[in-house]
Amino acid sequence: MTFLITGSTGTTGSRLARLLDDQGAPVRRAGRSTGADVRLDWADPTTHADALSGVRAVYLVAPPGATDPEARVLPFLEAARDAGVERIVLLGSSAVPVGSPGLGTLGARLASFVPHPVVLRPTWFSSNFTGHHPHADSVRRDGEIVSATGQGRIPFIDPGDIAAVAAKALQGEVPAGADPVLTGPRTLSFDEVAATLTEVTGRPVHHRHVDVAELSRIHQGFGLPEGFADLLAGMDASIATGSEDRTTTAVQDITGEAPRSFRAFVTAALGAETDTRSA
Ligand SMILES: NC(=O)c1ccc[n+]([C@@H]2O[C@H](COP(=O)([O-])OP(=O)(O)OC[C@H]3O[C@@H](n4cnc5c(N)ncnc54)[C@H](OP(=O)(O)O)[C@@H]3O)[C@@H](O)[C@H]2O)c1
Repeated sequence: MTFLITGSTGTTGSRLARLLDDQGAPVRRAGRSTGADVRLDWADPTTHADALSGVRAVYLVAPPGATDPEARVLPFLEAARDAGVERIVLLGSSAVPVGSPGLGTLGARLASFVPHPVVLRPTWFSSNFTGHHPHADSVRRDGEIVSATGQGRIPFIDPGDIAAVAAKALQGEVPAGADPVLTGPRTLSFDEVAATLTEVTGRPVHHRHVDVAELSRIHQGFGLPEGFADLLAGMDASIATGSEDRTTTAVQDITGEAPRSFRAFVTAALGAETDTRSA
């Protein structure tokens, strides 16, 4: 059975494709880049049928930043149903319950198209501070993390742990209709994130507290549309009130392995960056 990985150049999709490759599973990397096994563009439904041919299970990363992901992905879901796809594993978010607007609506609709839908709802990624992300850019450029999270806490997760759960879900080891919230092993405030990055990198990193309106203006300054900037800044506000201040056992329950800590993730990731630069 072929596993189709969308978002295969991205943070979770690339890790998932590698993991399945290592397990000897048949993987098809879909995307717009020349490195993909098959071309898939959400904006071009003529690419969907070929990508889905012979596929039994799909890892679905919706178009990033879309305020209407359900509408953008609908033609693909129709093609998946027509191709007889059995499972879709959607990358959702802990901040977006199934059924709520945006990604939540997409998650709720999956059952109309495939018999075995699963929605993974990870919390914030540890890689936001090391990879291609505004926080990582800000840490590298200015030695600071800018947020409106106040003293709110987040159980940051290693995207490799999300990939490990997704691999199990694609293989049918997560029940149909499940929507597990995936977290790391403990919660951290952004002050603690900054302190950990300072220790690991040896360069000072501090947390600059701003209010929601200022954060939205900062996001817009980096080119985000106003509506999406407001949405992201609003997420910080809910973190400040404790919305992410919990851990779950889902990663351990599904994979049999404990999730990796933020410190272990950034030590490995930033150590690797240093090695590459000095090589
Ligand atoms: N970061 C966090 O803390 C966090 C927390 C919870 C949930 N999430 C969820 O994670 C999602 C992002 O997942 P990720 O980090 O694994 O991916 P990512 O690194 O943001 O990469 C996005 C992927 O989508 C692909 N893509 C973009 N536009 C496309 C198009 N028109 N057609 C086909 N493919 C397209 C990109 O491929 P190309 O090579 O073609 O550009 C890329 O592979 C977010 O949207 C959010 O919902 C993130």
